[in-house]
Amino acid sequence: MPASRNSKISRLDKFIAEQMAVSREDARKYIKKRSVTVNGVTARLYDMKINVRKDTVTVEGNEILYRSHIYIMMNKPKGVICAVKDRNEKTVIDLLPENLKRKGLFPAGRLDRDTEGFVLITDDGELSHKILSPRSHVPKVYFARLLNEADNGCIKEFEEGIVIDGGDKCLPAGLEILSDKQEVLITLYEGKYHQVKRMFHAAGNEVVYLKRIRIGGISLDENLAHGEAREILHKDICNIYTFF
Ligand code: URA
Repeated sequence: MPASRNSKISRLDKFIAEQMAVSREDARKYIKKRSVTVNGVTARLYDMKINVRKDTVTVEGNEILYRSHIYIMMNKPKGVICAVKDRNEKTVIDLLPENLKRKGLFPAGRLDRDTEGFVLITDDGELSHKILSPRSHVPKVYFARLLNEADNGCIKEFEEGIVIDGGDKCLPAGLEILSDKQEVLITLYEGKYHQVKRMFHAAGNEVVYLKRIRIGGISLDENLAHGEAREILHKDICNIYTFF
């Protein structure tokens, strides 16, 4: 019988390992301990076949919901790098709580070590590619505190596409000067290395604090403390492409 759109078959131990981000061995331990049920019946076989879209699986009484991909918003603190693993430095993946960890997660885009704010962590390579592709122009908004007050000349320079060191011309960027003129919101449509800092440097100013507060149509959740993360629901992730 051909598989319908509603059927995706998996081995039980593989499903638990993938969805809970544990090893296959640990997944089997749950089954061995009789802590796993499938549709209300205690599971006994590691290789039991389940339909991940239809069957209800619980582990220690908690339902394991099937997600093809996961999208996580993290409020990155200073001193942490946007990488999967590093020998010497703490990475955003190291900070994830156990319940959000799973195989294949990576940060979609980079913030500098000393930049705070919104990092999207996912295992969805296709979405990440779309966000990061130079052709997609997903806007990213940063709050910056500057060494000196910003002025209207800077708004114009950014609007026209400022040339940064090395002769690289930036795409037009938005700049809003806040009531304290040393504070600004800057909107970029591309992601060059150290771009915000280099743009202000080229304009004769310096960034002293930087935080990303929005990617596309999704704002950083103000309730997330530094280093905290929460899942972005599948129904909300499409807002990444809804710009303001
Ligand atoms: N621009 C920067 O200069 N640093 C970041 O981390 C992000 C954008």
